[in-house]
Amino acid sequence: MSAAAGPDPGHELRPVTPIAILAALLERVAQELDGTLDGRVHDDLRRAKALAAGLDPYLARCTSPESPALAALAGRTRTHDFGATADGGAPGGLEAEMLSGHVEGQLLKLLVRISGASRALDIGTFTGYSALAMAEAMGPEGRVVACEVDPGVADIAQRAFDASPAGRRISLHIGPALDTLHRLADAGERFDLAFIDADKGGYVSYLAALLDRGLIGPGGLICADNTLLQGTPYLAPDPGSPGAAIADFNLAVAGDARVEQVLLPLRDGVSLIRVLEGQP
Ligand SMILES: C[S@@+](CC[C@H](N)C(=O)[O-])C[C@H]1O[C@@H](n2cnc3c(N)ncnc32)[C@H](O)[C@@H]1O
Repeated sequence: MSAAAGPDPGHELRPVTPIAILAALLERVAQELDGTLDGRVHDDLRRAKALAAGLDPYLARCTSPESPALAALAGRTRTHDFGATADGGAPGGLEAEMLSGHVEGQLLKLLVRISGASRALDIGTFTGYSALAMAEAMGPEGRVVACEVDPGVADIAQRAFDASPAGRRISLHIGPALDTLHRLADAGERFDLAFIDADKGGYVSYLAALLDRGLIGPGGLICADNTLLQGTPYLAPDPGSPGAAIADFNLAVAGDARVEQVLLPLRDGVSLIRVLEGQP
């Protein structure tokens, strides 16, 4: 999911990261209390608002720019009418806010380059941003296997892949990602890097499939998006909610002796999970 409105004139994105939500709340409180606060409290509130609202835009300014292909894809996603193309059977409504986007895409590119990954899994592809970002960071022999359940957004992604030289490194599998993962494991496929960004209720199963079936081996990296899910995992999530599913996932990662991990408070939370050496 994306943080806040981008620079394009299209769809105005609602805040969906903890810091952007905090900024919006502080703005609302400031408006409600306008004219009622003494000078010091007013200044503290104004500073708190500026601290929260300025972080994501500053991170974007300090991050290498996205490629023209990724910028075009992000722009198309923001202006797309998802009501018209969303598959009624897809779990959860599709919306432009789901896009990973510039800063996270650049993080994925750096992870590919630093780790030397040449085979990556993209679990939850949406319009294709994360898959294309990883593919752009790979050499000509690189391969990204992208998993997406919704044929409508898969079609948008495939068109973006077809329009970009790096897109030739991506093969898109339409269907439930867990089925695709098990098929890949049955075929003996192995990957250096996996990006988990599909339905939150599936995260624990995706992690299990990647580790138990050896899709990601020792030294390999799993990157999971939305592991702060708008703050809900640490704000007593409702049972059965996506926030509770992410809290379960974070617990499962923390309790798994096969991995070491860190949860970065980047955008909606990104966990980097490395499979330890010495695993079967
Ligand atoms: C947050 S979006 C992914 C964003 C994308 N990674 C990006 O970089 O913009 C989540 C996607 O996961 C897909 N999805 C949900 N459940 C799925 C499943 N069981 N298998 C595969 N894809 C799924 C949704 O249709 C949606 O397109």
